[in-house]
Amino acid sequence: MDFATLEQQHASGGVGRRPFVIVRAEGARLWDEAGNEYIDCSAGHGWANVGHSHPAVTKAIQDQAARLVAWGESAYNDQRALWMRDLAAITPGDLNIIHPCNSGTEAVEAAIKAARFFTGRPNIIATQRGFHGRTFGAMTATWNKAYREPFEPLVPGFCHVPYNNLEAMAETIDDHTAAVLVEVVQGEGGVYAGDPAYFEGLRRLCDQQGALLIFDEVQTGFGRTGKMFAAQHLSVLPDIMALGKGLGGGLPMGAAIWSEKLGTLKSGSHGSTFGGNPLACAASRAVIQVMAEEDLPGRAARLGEWLMRELQAIDSAQIREVRGLGLMIGVQLRSRVNPALKTLSEEGIWALPAGPTVLRLLPPLIISETDLQTVVSKISGVLAA
Ligand SMILES: Cc1ncc(COP(=O)(O)O)c(C=O)c1O
Repeated sequence: MDFATLEQQHASGGVGRRPFVIVRAEGARLWDEAGNEYIDCSAGHGWANVGHSHPAVTKAIQDQAARLVAWGESAYNDQRALWMRDLAAITPGDLNIIHPCNSGTEAVEAAIKAARFFTGRPNIIATQRGFHGRTFGAMTATWNKAYREPFEPLVPGFCHVPYNNLEAMAETIDDHTAAVLVEVVQGEGGVYAGDPAYFEGLRRLCDQQGALLIFDEVQTGFGRTGKMFAAQHLSVLPDIMALGKGLGGGLPMGAAIWSEKLGTLKSGSHGSTFGGNPLACAASRAVIQVMAEEDLPGRAARLGEWLMRELQAIDSAQIREVRGLGLMIGVQLRSRVNPALKTLSEEGIWALPAGPTVLRLLPPLIISETDLQTVVSKISGVLAA
């Protein structure tokens, strides 16, 4: 059967597909229906941090699926209680209050709602090149016009200032600001890490103005940047963190997690049918355990440093800059990235774009050194050509 044509007949068009039918994945490898094998340098789309079908995650899903798949927050549940305990134990500081949901964009929505609720203020300051998701609040906070303009009118009260620019933030933040929403490393926007001093300055400005600081760690969380959370590279903490992607080990999952000091929402004011379902919670508990047992943040730091050096050493007129943190790396090209991505996928490497000219590498954190060496030599071949 021609699955690509069949799917295309029904697809909404919102997401452009590559002409491959992916049918199986394990660890850092993918296979298409013809049996061709690929090294996955995308971790799905930044979510397979523990690798595809990690045996511990698979077992947790299988066991829980036979017991109880879904039960909402209208009653307590053993898996959700244990997951909340386990998640709170790895998040920094007193980020211990958890709103469970089903995706990164929902986590951002919850963070925005919590910020408005706790401050009683309307405004959200986001940053240029930032990406936060596709639902209305998160989309309004997203910078790229192509994601926003077709769906106007947007949510009132949002504005964007240049990233990594404290002066611009100081000029904009005031006593109507509910929150500043930033990524510690911008992903979709081109893989740009903010300076530690920038985040220290944001913390100071937010405290002076009584505004909350939200870190969108949907992409940077769960070991990606070489620490469990990118915030742990910094000397300051946010009030609220949005999580997704790697959190569920492949099951759709998100969470907004905030400081105990803020308190809790009004009962009935926010919720989700499937948020915190026992199946996703069981998978996420396994993810948290695997991350610790295999020290995947440490592995991301080590492999990321090596990969960065190797990529920086490639002699290619096409490369303008290599940047990133841990295993979140962007190769800024002088030309459009799509032809390189196409050739790489034909050569068995599955990578991502980040904007029109950046090649983004987000491999599973369990990827082997040998696979990474293959990735470097293929990228070198494609960009040197
Ligand atoms: C930083 C960031 N925030 C939010 C999202 C949205 O997550 P989701 O696609 O799970 O809704 C993404 C997705 O790429 C992201 O990278």
